Amino acid sequence: MSAILSVNDLGISFGSNHVLKSVNFELEKGEVLGVIGPNGAGKTVMLNILTGILKPTKGTIAFEGKEISDQNSTQRCHGGIGRTFQVPRPFEKMTVFENIMVGGVFGAGMTEKQAKEKALEVAETIGLSDKLGLFAGKLGLLDRKRLEIGRALATEPKILLLDEVGGGLTESEVGLIIDLVKAVKKQGISVIWIEHIIRTMLEGTDRVLLLADGVDVVCGKPLDVMNSKEVSQVYMGGGDE
Ligand SMILES: Nc1ncnc2c1ncn2[C@@H]1O[C@H](COP(=O)(O)OP(=O)(O)OP(=O)(O)O)[C@@H](O)[C@H]1O
Ligand SMILES: [Mg+2]
Repeated sequence: MSAILSVNDLGISFGSNHVLKSVNFELEKGEVLGVIGPNGAGKTVMLNILTGILKPTKGTIAFEGKEISDQNSTQRCHGGIGRTFQVPRPFEKMTVFENIMVGGVFGAGMTEKQAKEKALEVAETIGLSDKLGLFAGKLGLLDRKRLEIGRALATEPKILLLDEVGGGLTESEVGLIIDLVKAVKKQGISVIWIEHIIRTMLEGTDRVLLLADGVDVVCGKPLDVMNSKEVSQVYMGGGDE
């Protein structure tokens, strides 16, 4: 086993709101780790800590064996941690191609030429090669989600952090996003995928982590976790006990 990311005793409080108390997990190289948890559990906050947008109150984060807590978000992006945002926010008045290029130039520090080549490759992966000249503001939700993933892929991440990219999509569109994440994994990129949709976890991940009450409650094979008493307790207040 070789972990690309190790999170230890991660905690954060906003005043008296102790959102994360102690979160511990490892992301294996090349795996897709799903993250589930109720609304307000701190899933997005955790991504914001991993990308350096929020500073944790305690804990350590090791990326490829190196502690990165002191790095800012630009350094982490250059180092290989890419992300999407829960609410996609493309530059509406820029084209699909330009939006992807921004990821390469500003996210990864590429030259314009490198970023152009990368953008063409990424457009292929996300299935938007035939819409490169369209303004992002004209895209439907599925294509906006694809573009959001594309902008992150253009930064050439080693780890891709996805925050509810399947939200609001139809059943068949969710299937396309699952396929896209599989294609990303095939490229050797490790993924953390936050999602509320059960199907994405069962079909699109290697392991699932349940985040609730500020801690990592359970982590394991998708079906085992989805059928666990911990999940029923957290979501239904039921379970065996
Ligand atoms: N910058 C911030 N300042 C203060 N409180 C915050 C901040 N960001 C998040 N919170 C609080 O942290 C808690 C967790 O929020 P977060 O957005 O991480 O939940 P989530 O698990 O992503 O939920 P959802 O599934 O609805 O997206 C919430 O109570 C929220 O109000
Ligand atoms: Mg969230």
